[in-house]
Amino acid sequence: MSTTHTSADFLSRTQGTLDELTANGQLKHLQMIEGPMGPTITLRGRGEVDCFCSNNYLGLANHPEVVQAGIEGLRTYGAGTASVRFICGTFQAHEQLEETIARFLGVEASYTFVSCWTASEALFPTLCEPGDCIVSDELNHACIIDGMRLAGVIKKGVRKAIYKHSDMDNVREKLHALRDDPTFDGVIFLVTDGVFSMEGDIADLPALRALCDEFGALLIVDDSHGTGVLGKSGRGTHEHWGMRGDQVDLFTGTLGKALGGGAGGYVAGSKAAIDMIVQRGRPTLFSNALPTTVACSARKAIEVLDADASRVAKLHANVGYARKGIAEVGFDVLESPTAICPIIVGETATAIAMSNELLDMGTFAIGFGYPVVPEGAARIRVQISAAHETSHLDRLIGNLRKLKGQE
Ligand SMILES: Cc1ncc(COP(=O)(O)O)c(C=O)c1O
Repeated sequence: MSTTHTSADFLSRTQGTLDELTANGQLKHLQMIEGPMGPTITLRGRGEVDCFCSNNYLGLANHPEVVQAGIEGLRTYGAGTASVRFICGTFQAHEQLEETIARFLGVEASYTFVSCWTASEALFPTLCEPGDCIVSDELNHACIIDGMRLAGVIKKGVRKAIYKHSDMDNVREKLHALRDDPTFDGVIFLVTDGVFSMEGDIADLPALRALCDEFGALLIVDDSHGTGVLGKSGRGTHEHWGMRGDQVDLFTGTLGKALGGGAGGYVAGSKAAIDMIVQRGRPTLFSNALPTTVACSARKAIEVLDADASRVAKLHANVGYARKGIAEVGFDVLESPTAICPIIVGETATAIAMSNELLDMGTFAIGFGYPVVPEGAARIRVQISAAHETSHLDRLIGNLRKLKGQE
């Protein structure tokens, strides 16, 4: 006979887990922000702090034109259609945003979602068929991992192969194994983050493209942390490597970071793939659209970026300055042109304690631990923005020096 647990049992189990997190110093506390996102923000009960944990890489989250475009979007279209796009119609704001994204990336078409997470959950289960295989970097973002898992559940028989982080020999081994497998008879989707969100390193897209060409695989890049950041014009990781957008078969990306920071995500690539997602994607068939306010503000953010690449240049200069300063303090920070500078400290509780100390000094940079990163590899993730001035960066470096006990 089974034992049925009551809601009281559920509450006691849940409270037990929360108590354990508290006892281990791992409980996260949500900070309340008063006012808009910027290089300096106001936290409730604490006052002004310098913000080094936002993905507001270009400082567009509170740009006057971006805000105004959102307001006009709300005035023009109201809050939304209160429906799904294929049922009740699509606003021009979505059409214009999707054309803008496709043009910006240099691909045929794009389709937007309420988040990049949703875009991932649309892409893999829709485009993969039983017998296909998804080949994925072990450090890919959680939305790719869950999108792959979902593909396997919705389309039974979708296979997956995980390769060691950025290890091209291991990628080749995985692709060889598929080619040598007489039972394999499908499409290979090779997927990678452009910029890895916890490491701040960059995928070797030219090497991956060459391997995909050799083995007949599609290359999919989630460039959520590369778009707006890498390349002279901020087009992303492919531009950093001197590649055209159409040398990537499919992009996923977010509008919730450099491109306005509101929310939203997209899939971009060939018209056929996008048409298929419109026809068969479960999030496109069963879920409402990106709010028009965000569609309008995100489009404006891309236009602002496209009109003036000096923001990208300033971000690159800030990243160089900050990395040099952090390294001089004696912290191990990876050499990379990306805006993500992780400082590895070991245990989760240590990362949280250090980030609390930094916050007390006026620097807001979050400690990440298990399960976001592996046990023992907890870190403080410092994120740089074009909105930071040298004074912000100097305060960051000064506070890290104090943390090291050098002052
Ligand atoms: C690489 C990567 N992909 C996707 C996402 C999710 O983006 P969104 O917030 O639009 O769902 C993130 C967010 O942290 C990310 O780092």
